[in-house]
Amino acid sequence: MRKLAAGNWKMNGLAENLSELDNLTQAHPSPNVDILICPPAPLLMQAALQSPVVQIGAQDCHAKTNGAHTGDISPDLIKSIGATSVILGHSERRQDHGETNEQIAAKTQAAHAAGLIAVVCIGETHLQRLENETLDVLAAQLAGSLPASSTAENTVVAYEPVWAIGTGLVPTDQQIDQAHAFIRDTLVARFGDTAKEIRLLYGGSVKASNADAIFQIKNVDGALVGGASLKASDFSPIINALENTL
Ligand code: PGA
Repeated sequence: MRKLAAGNWKMNGLAENLSELDNLTQAHPSPNVDILICPPAPLLMQAALQSPVVQIGAQDCHAKTNGAHTGDISPDLIKSIGATSVILGHSERRQDHGETNEQIAAKTQAAHAAGLIAVVCIGETHLQRLENETLDVLAAQLAGSLPASSTAENTVVAYEPVWAIGTGLVPTDQQIDQAHAFIRDTLVARFGDTAKEIRLLYGGSVKASNADAIFQIKNVDGALVGGASLKASDFSPIINALENTL
């Protein structure tokens, strides 16, 4: 399995910030891991044209291939401009836009049909963790958000505890280990042994200073990074940490 360092720019960055892709390419001309950057939608096409090494992904897509859906973007369009991937079910979309597991499953299936890799995000809130509901929440999100079309080639699962996103708080190694082991077991139970090859990312306040330790944890096959992916100088050490595990 090829490990994955994924960056989610969220609603950050202007056209001029695409120079960070050049900086990343210079720092990692032939990486031993996959590098993915997911910029805001208007930057996708230029980003895909610009970077031979860094893969490009969107942050959301519609479940339909085309039609009267003002402001939405179809997975086929994302694929056609040279992007490889799309993040789906990020907790900020679940919160800000009320996205349900059913909607995320439909989008994921559409992404698969378009030939995109879906990076499907799951994770518990702080309250759910305090009430010992973490594994139940993960089970429900996995069952509800992943369609039958999910394979190791077209699906990446990102475990992102909502309380760790953008907060500087990181779960303990044991908490990450437990969640990732549970996700792996759940995927294998549903999809069979091939699910051992589905890449599982950890996300939530990953930075250069904690990446080494997080990448040592079993079943962590990479990271989904927000704030520390905006600048190549911050993201590059995280990529190096992932390469160091090989
Ligand atoms: P963060 O965001 O690295 O800024 O915590 C992670 C994410 O939301 O994917």
